Amino acid sequence: MSYPYQIKSFEQYQADYKRSIDDPAEFWSTIAEHFTWKKKWHTTLNWNFKEPKIEWFKGAKLNITENCLDRHLEKYGDTPALIWEPNDPEEHHRILTYRKLYEKVCQFSHVLKNNGVKKGDRVCIYMGMIPELAIAVLACARVGAIHSVVFGGFSAQSIADRLYDAQAEYIVTCDGAYRGQKDIPLKSVIDDALIGNRIVKKVIVTTRTRTAVSMIKGRDVWWEDEIKKVETLGLTDFPAEEMDAEDPLFILYTSGSTGKPKGVVHSCAGYMLFTNYTFINVFQYQRGDIHFCTADIGWITGHSYILYGPLSAGATTLMFEGIPTWPDAGRFWNIIDKYKVNILYTAPTAIRSLMGFGLGPVHGHDLSSLKVLGTVGEPINEEAWHWYDDNIGKNRCPIVDTWWQTETGGILISNLAGITPAKASWATLPLPGVEPILVDDKGAEIAEKEDGVYKGNLCIRTPWPSTIRTTYGDHERCRTNYFATYDNLYFTGDGALKDEDGNFRITGRVDDVLNVSGHRIGTAEVENAINMHANVVESAVVGYPHDIKGQGIYAFVIYQGSHAQNTHGTADLIRKDIHQTVTRIIGAIAKPDKIQFVSGLPKTRSGKIMRRILRKIAEGETENLGDTTTLLDPGVVEEIKNGKL
Ligand code: WT7
Repeated sequence: MSYPYQIKSFEQYQADYKRSIDDPAEFWSTIAEHFTWKKKWHTTLNWNFKEPKIEWFKGAKLNITENCLDRHLEKYGDTPALIWEPNDPEEHHRILTYRKLYEKVCQFSHVLKNNGVKKGDRVCIYMGMIPELAIAVLACARVGAIHSVVFGGFSAQSIADRLYDAQAEYIVTCDGAYRGQKDIPLKSVIDDALIGNRIVKKVIVTTRTRTAVSMIKGRDVWWEDEIKKVETLGLTDFPAEEMDAEDPLFILYTSGSTGKPKGVVHSCAGYMLFTNYTFINVFQYQRGDIHFCTADIGWITGHSYILYGPLSAGATTLMFEGIPTWPDAGRFWNIIDKYKVNILYTAPTAIRSLMGFGLGPVHGHDLSSLKVLGTVGEPINEEAWHWYDDNIGKNRCPIVDTWWQTETGGILISNLAGITPAKASWATLPLPGVEPILVDDKGAEIAEKEDGVYKGNLCIRTPWPSTIRTTYGDHERCRTNYFATYDNLYFTGDGALKDEDGNFRITGRVDDVLNVSGHRIGTAEVENAINMHANVVESAVVGYPHDIKGQGIYAFVIYQGSHAQNTHGTADLIRKDIHQTVTRIIGAIAKPDKIQFVSGLPKTRSGKIMRRILRKIAEGETENLGDTTTLLDPGVVEEIKNGKL
């Protein structure tokens, strides 16, 4: 069974696209009629990119969880909403039907309320991939609190920064998390993050690994104890808080070209509509299908395509706690076989890493249930695309290459599975409601083709329902970051190509943001972390092509008192010290892959580091470094070239 606004043919895509651009308000309000509202809107769209101000469905009242849970109960109460596969294949899996998930979310909503959480409060969620994470997220939405999920790989310092930025008063966490062979002590990281914190009032801790934790009286409470209190009272419902369409639903921190991560804010109604619409259309979800998105809920992909998109569509979403390579590199294929998964949505980096294990781990698993494959997070190279197509989809599953960002909330450019044509390594066409435009550095639309394609900076001309609304606590930052580079355009930070037929190919970031294994990391952020090391004088970080990660992190470091070898140890030991520092400040995901010690950095006379040159060197280019005439000391470039790792 399909959905009333599911696009069924290429002609319909073209017609819907045209309608959505000619009259966005008419287009989206027709779709909005299919949702549950406590009160309807009076103005569908009101916007300007100057401030920016973007308002969808103004005047409407709703709660997103009524759309994700309550409205499915009558017909689909016994349908699995969430299938949870544990890290260890020997452990029992869990299936929560829509009714069960509803009850759990309602119970935990009571727990939040009993612990003082009110509408508008910020709740930081730092958990592993267990059903309680999904329950905590949805319960926040149900009571009207703003969730800020922090990925389990971030350090105490990163959590502390995010807690402070959001002025969060509540935390939900676990004792620990399982990931492959590792057992990560999350609560203890939270304890470190809370040293000196005077804002957090309550920490709710659920049990997963049963590692020893310190529970502080008056501050820390066990999830299970709190639930028992609610159960004793027999409470299985919780009235959903009435939210304004434009009330913030969540904050999600992401890296930019400046040092400090930004709290991207999404609002209730627009985000709900767009994640639902794109989920149904891009993946061509049919009722009963099992959707497996391998992302972590700590990232936007998990928010939009494990939770809100699928659940608002009454779909069955599969949540996996572990990693693709443990206990062996056949883990994904084993899960697909076990649950007869229909849609697999993963990242190019995972595909490339699994490719490296050959076809052995794929054999012996029945993948015939698969209907649609998807990728997200970074450009997919043709080799990986074909491997995925040949060996996983067996050339009978369309691959959707979905381009979007934390700030866009949902997929903006992608083919629609089996409906619009795929093109290896091209994200292809914009979704209805999305108007991409390629501009030059001055903001003029690219009019001339180069090598048969248009080439430029990717911008979006008009708002779609899940456009970023603000950066938490600092609206000006949102304006300067996304809406000030070019007049009246949202700037994505990506470069792209466009062909004759209007297909887009994303070529990668054009700003100082790296994409390492599909994770966004700002070079300035990594430099700040490296510079925290007592003996580091200065550093410069650039990306370089990495076979599996897409991009690797290359750091050029000036280490005090010459380099490589001094009283503090060998170059290798110093590299480890720097890794420790970065792990402490940001998290292990930001550890440089290569650290080259240098005596100076290439700078202009005004003192600006010429990253262009460093990037070329890190990429392995030695001859053609471009214009070096503005360099203060050209000699330093020779030294760096000779010392390349
Ligand atoms: C950046 C956004 C969107 C969820 C995951 C990452 C890159 C994303 C693609 C794609 C080429 C892609 C872009 C974008 N990116 N999808 N299909 N093809 N590049 O979210 O952390 O906000 O990162 O990821 O560079 O700007 P994010």
